[in-house]
Amino acid sequence: MKPIQVGLLGIGTVGSGTFNVLTRNQEEIKGRAGRGIEITMVADLNVERARSIVGDGVQVVDDARKVIENPDIDIVIELIGGYGIAKTLVMEAIAAGKHVVTANKALLAVHGPEIFAAASAKGVMVAFEAAVAGGIPIIKALREGLTANRIEWVAGIVNGTTNFILSEMRDKGLDFEVVLKEAQRLGYAEADPTFDIEGVDAAHKVTLMSAIAFGIPVQFDKAYTEGITKLSSVDIRYAEQLGYRIKLLGITKRAAKGVELRVHPCLVPAKRLIANVEGAMNAVVVEADAVGTTLYYGQGAGSEPTASAVVADLVDVTRLHTADPTHRVPHLAFQPGAMSDEAVLPMEEVVTSYYLRMRVADQTGVLTKVTGLLAEAGISIDAVLQRESDEISGEDGNQTDLIILTHDTREGEMNATLEKIQTLPSVLAPIVRIRKEELN
Ligand code: HSE
Repeated sequence: MKPIQVGLLGIGTVGSGTFNVLTRNQEEIKGRAGRGIEITMVADLNVERARSIVGDGVQVVDDARKVIENPDIDIVIELIGGYGIAKTLVMEAIAAGKHVVTANKALLAVHGPEIFAAASAKGVMVAFEAAVAGGIPIIKALREGLTANRIEWVAGIVNGTTNFILSEMRDKGLDFEVVLKEAQRLGYAEADPTFDIEGVDAAHKVTLMSAIAFGIPVQFDKAYTEGITKLSSVDIRYAEQLGYRIKLLGITKRAAKGVELRVHPCLVPAKRLIANVEGAMNAVVVEADAVGTTLYYGQGAGSEPTASAVVADLVDVTRLHTADPTHRVPHLAFQPGAMSDEAVLPMEEVVTSYYLRMRVADQTGVLTKVTGLLAEAGISIDAVLQRESDEISGEDGNQTDLIILTHDTREGEMNATLEKIQTLPSVLAPIVRIRKEELN
């Protein structure tokens, strides 16, 4: 059988990795897919650069529509990114009856419902393994490998840039701004790092995992998103003294009243494997009723790691493109008629435990006042650490850092109580609040 023909839109880092992996491993890939898979057409604004990557045997154009209009192309890979022109081209490719493979988490997290509906109506597949955690096959695991299970929660380090920054802050005791500059110099962070450091990229990814894990629609607008820009190395060190590491986690959880969907910095027990995921690496933990806890670890970005996921999708599409669409794996794991309408919980309704740091006057009765307000609200204390000396905070002896770990409480309750504690005259600076997850 002649090879299936693929058109590639955008040949940057991941696109060139995809071309190279397909070329290098073509015999093995053919053996697995049942027929060859060839990129025969590439669209990129930089035609010269594209040609230097793919050589003369591949048609290179600067107009993506020429790829979409080519009747010989069965699969379109979208590696342009963003939700501007990428969305238009993906919708046009679907309308033209092409299967789509994409690494575009932002596009699917924001416009997933429209894109999946259009693909289902047209009977084509939209595959997106590369959109979440790069080379880690977490979409495959959630959608197929764990299909026997009722999934309870998913928690992941799904942004390498922020994990690199947090690792450096902990290792070297440096502040966020200093490490960010270093990360930019080394190429770990973009010139505009907003989506990474504000948690938006992680929220796109956890939104997709949430939909697949629980069979709910993709709803990025309901995700709570908080990044790492306000984290201080002081808190990283206090957390360490208490046996925790701070990680930016994407969490989605089945709770009593709905589904939690959130990204924020989090204290995680240092003994958990995920707490020891360092540098730009990614990891996802899934808790499910039959299998228990499983952990998926690997490179969440980069040319060939991400290409590994793109090519895996190409193989899946090649195997299934002639199958009856109802026999394919559904985009979001559940058949359209079996999707859940369970609501995503507002952050005020999320129940979790907390790390609190208060800069207080070192006077008699301060601790009693603070713990009294917590007790009034029914918030139970797990541990208290008071640093009289300047060994971590570097401040003078008339002030002290009061660190409190709480047991689980509703976020709304915690917010109201922190407002009251903040008004105490002996509380000298804005209270630092970081959520804590035991992940057990
Ligand atoms: N910028 C992302 C990260 C990689 O730092 O993990 C692509 O999603």
